[in-house]
Order: sequence, then C-alpha cells, then structure tokens
Amino acid sequence: MRHLLSINDLTKTDALSILNTAETLARASDGPMKKLPTLRGRTIVNLFAEDSTRTRISFEAAAKRLSADVINFSAKGSSLSKGESLKDTAQTLQAMGADAVIIRHNASGAAHTLAKGEWMSGSVINAGDGTHEHPSQALLDAFTIRKHCARGNEDLTGLRIAIVGDILHSRVARSNVVLLTMLGAKVVLVAPPTLLPIGVSSWPAEVSYDFDSVIGEVDAVIMLRIQIERMTEMYLPNAREYSRFFGLDKDRLSKMKTNAIVMHPGPMNRGVEISAESADSARSVIVEQVKNGVSVRMAILYLLLAGTAELEI
Ligand code: NCD
Repeated sequence: MRHLLSINDLTKTDALSILNTAETLARASDGPMKKLPTLRGRTIVNLFAEDSTRTRISFEAAAKRLSADVINFSAKGSSLSKGESLKDTAQTLQAMGADAVIIRHNASGAAHTLAKGEWMSGSVINAGDGTHEHPSQALLDAFTIRKHCARGNEDLTGLRIAIVGDILHSRVARSNVVLLTMLGAKVVLVAPPTLLPIGVSSWPAEVSYDFDSVIGEVDAVIMLRIQIERMTEMYLPNAREYSRFFGLDKDRLSKMKTNAIVMHPGPMNRGVEISAESADSARSVIVEQVKNGVSVRMAILYLLLAGTAELEI
C-alpha cells in the first residue's frame, strides 16, 4: 500500500493489521522509550488547508514519536491561499524531499487528486477531504470500540453502533460506515431527514429518525457535530429543538446498555449534540479517542513508510 486515501482502499486484513500494529505501538508508547527510531531521516509534511486541531497535532505527534522530521504547512500564510494549484504545491513538496504528505482540504477528492497526479513520489494520507472521507479517524474509532466492546474478538462482529447527527456533511460518518461494517459491526445512522444524504439507503447501514428507540440497544454511540460551516441553507428549525430530539443528554445516557460507550471525533458543541454531563461521564471515551489517534496514526505511517523494516521496540 502506498497511499491512504479512502477506507475503500483497505481490505479487512489491511484494517486489522493497522489496528494490531497500533496496539503494539501503544504498548511501546506507554513504556519507558517513547520515541522509536523507525522513520529517522524521513520527511513528513502536514499540508492543512482547512482548520484542524486534533488531527494535525495527532499526525505531528505520531510522526515525531517515530523520529521523522515534520514540516507543518498550513494554508493560511502559504501560496495555497494565493491560489497556487495542488500540482504546484506538490511539485514544491517533491523538490523538498517529502516522503509523505498528510493532506486536509475542504474539497472532496483533494487527496485523490494529489495522489493520482503522480507529481510526487511519496505517500499521500487523507486527513479529511471535504464531506468525503476521513480514514484515520474511522480507524481510531474502530480501535477504540474494539478495545472497549469487542470482548476479545479481533473484529467487531456482533456489535451495534449508532452514528448520530449531521451525517450529510460528515466525512467521519462516511469512513466509519464502511470500516465498521467491514469489521463485522451493524451500524445505525440516526438523524433528521434533512441531515441525511440522498442515496443513504444504498449505504450498508440502517437509518432511524428516532434516537430514543436506538439508544438502549447499541454498544457505542458516535455523536457528530452540526457542521454549520458546510451548510448552505437551513437544515434545522433551531439548536434547542435539535438537541431535544437528537442530542445525547442525561436522560438518554441513563438508558444506555451497561458497558456502552460515548464517542465524539471533536470538536464538540457542548449543549447542542452532546450535554456536558454526557461528554464528561464515565461512559465517555472522547479523550481516549485522542490518545488512541496517535497510536493509530503511528501505525499508518509505519505501514506506509517503513516498508518491510521490522518494528524495533
Ligand atoms: C472531524 C473532521 O474534521 O471531519 N473532526 C476531526 O477530525 N477530529 C469532525 C468535525 O469537524 O466535526
């Protein structure tokens, strides 16, 4: 595998190999030697043309823990904001010797354009392209769910997972539906009809408009942010009404199965899709998702860049 553009590029074996490698790396990171020499001398560029906190610093931390050199390139203050094409940017990165480019862009398909253009010899990793895909987020979500809910299974067979909220604009939902079902879970999407994409019936997931009938039956619930910045018209009557029907509040939290977990990719709108009580409750693994994200991204970088090199731990 040279690039990571979409979950559809992965087989189940590839996905499990990323999760298993991440587990090994997580154990190593918890040990005395935080930094591994695996990617010494490699250059990784973080090309972020859209806002990000978690994903950008997570990839940076992952690359640094593997001893790679990291160049952070944000759109603001770069030639990308002056209208430079992806091709020119890619050729510049190639000239600087980038071994991998991690790209976040507001255009769906930007990561594919960068990879398929063959303007660079390195790997391209999609860190979120428009409303299309966010494969590393789905992998860290699967990793977190497996850790808490899989009861010793290698995959997610037998689990039921709800993804709730702004599915229409969510690249996290698109990548997760494919990955979680590939790993054997059943996914139910919960949203008002206006926040579901046309064609959702062809996705490998159930659809429900009734959060209350779903909440007591799932092993994990992934809450999504309302993505105001991608909305071009009115999709909701108002935030209060939205939270009443689709928010995770104390009452719904209390209806969850004994060991069920609460997830959110961040950033959260506390009080809209998730109450502070739910976000900070004992069921919440939201902060742990961030920690797991570093191990999963280390695994992605290792598997794409280290080739057949043995994992030296
Ligand atoms: C998500 C994203 O950017 O798609 N966040 C993330 O990567 N941590 C979800 C979101 O922005 O709501």
